Amino acid sequence: MASTVAFTPAVAVGANVQHSRRTSSLRPVPRARPVAARGSAERDGAAAAVQARSGRTIEECEADAVAGKFPAAPPPTRPQPPSGTPEIRPLDMAKRPRRNRRSPALRAAFQETSITPANLVLPLFIHEGEEDTPIGAMPGCFRLGWRHGLLEEVYKSRDVGVNSFVLFPKVPDGLKTQTGDEAYNDNGLVPRTIRLLKDKYPDIVIYTDVALDPYSSDGHDGIVREDGVIMNDETVHQLCKQAVSQARAGADVVSPSDMMDGRVGAIRAALDAEGFNDVSIMSYTAKYASSFYGPFREALDSNPRFGDKKTYQMNPANYREALIETAADEAEGADILLVKPGLPYLDIIRLLRDNSALPIAAYQVSGEYSMIKAGGVLKMVDEEKVMMESLLCLRRAGADIILTYFARQAANVLCGANRP
Ligand code: PBG
Repeated sequence: MASTVAFTPAVAVGANVQHSRRTSSLRPVPRARPVAARGSAERDGAAAAVQARSGRTIEECEADAVAGKFPAAPPPTRPQPPSGTPEIRPLDMAKRPRRNRRSPALRAAFQETSITPANLVLPLFIHEGEEDTPIGAMPGCFRLGWRHGLLEEVYKSRDVGVNSFVLFPKVPDGLKTQTGDEAYNDNGLVPRTIRLLKDKYPDIVIYTDVALDPYSSDGHDGIVREDGVIMNDETVHQLCKQAVSQARAGADVVSPSDMMDGRVGAIRAALDAEGFNDVSIMSYTAKYASSFYGPFREALDSNPRFGDKKTYQMNPANYREALIETAADEAEGADILLVKPGLPYLDIIRLLRDNSALPIAAYQVSGEYSMIKAGGVLKMVDEEKVMMESLLCLRRAGADIILTYFARQAANVLCGANRP
């Protein structure tokens, strides 16, 4: 497995400390430059510039210093501005924030936020088929065959340090009912897949989705009454059975994404009653009724047959309401609080971060992914840079972990695998 942790700024600083300690020992030592330092330095051309200045090796410089020959101060030359530059008196400013940004090493030292593959969770679409079928609205994403393509994808992800996965099943129409009972079939696609994955890769973390929509003939997250009302408590009853079935199969974290009231407490009790005290709950605490889920619903063919999800998912106009959900989920025993979507809801991520000590997850949803992909394909933005920036910004807003379809691609970048 790649030692991906080396790419965090903290470790990069550690590598430099080691470097200067060696230098001051004044003993010529063969130096393999630390990979972590090479990462950003070479891309900025800084390493090359440092070498060129004296034209001598570090060993030669050290030998001179031992012999008492110290380098003179650099000459007081000033690089010339282009002709036509106005001659002015420097502004009288005590504070010049640009001083802390003037070199790659300073910028790396003062970087406040970092991201590593350990922060990423990869959502995976699975189906019963043998083939991997491309998802039209999500370039680069597939419905993976649970026995083949899925294992391959997990293998490649682990290789770059992504060890956490969340499973979303595409369920055949014939198995969908109004009460979504396939959701707790112990031999259904999800439990079977969990068992297979845990058998092959016991160290991965498997998150599951707890909601009825992939199993509901109505395409809703809960049971629909004949007047169109989504029935809360009856749905929670089904969700508890679903979560227990997933835990029985070996799930590490069950993740209710349905937004029914009281489901976290009920699921906690159901898990505990079956002896699954160690199975965590990641609650979709602030899940908004968002148009950014469009491509996902295409991927699973799970569009609501009628109406929308506004009676259970939150109004995108609301901020304070997220605090009500936070208080409820905390009191009911959630282990992780999730905000969804991600980038358009950075204020909500920060709100939860500041109001709870629990880990916060952000879900960079299908529509966010597809917009970045499309912008890249059309050459309107640099896909890789925008991807990395969007993930970093989710971390800056306060997310500990990020669910993102970019997880493997981003981890590749963090490992340097994409560099020539
Ligand atoms: C459904 C569920 C949805 C997503 C995750 N779980 C869709 C929805 O609420 O309609 C969306 C994820 C995405 O868009 O990437 N329980």
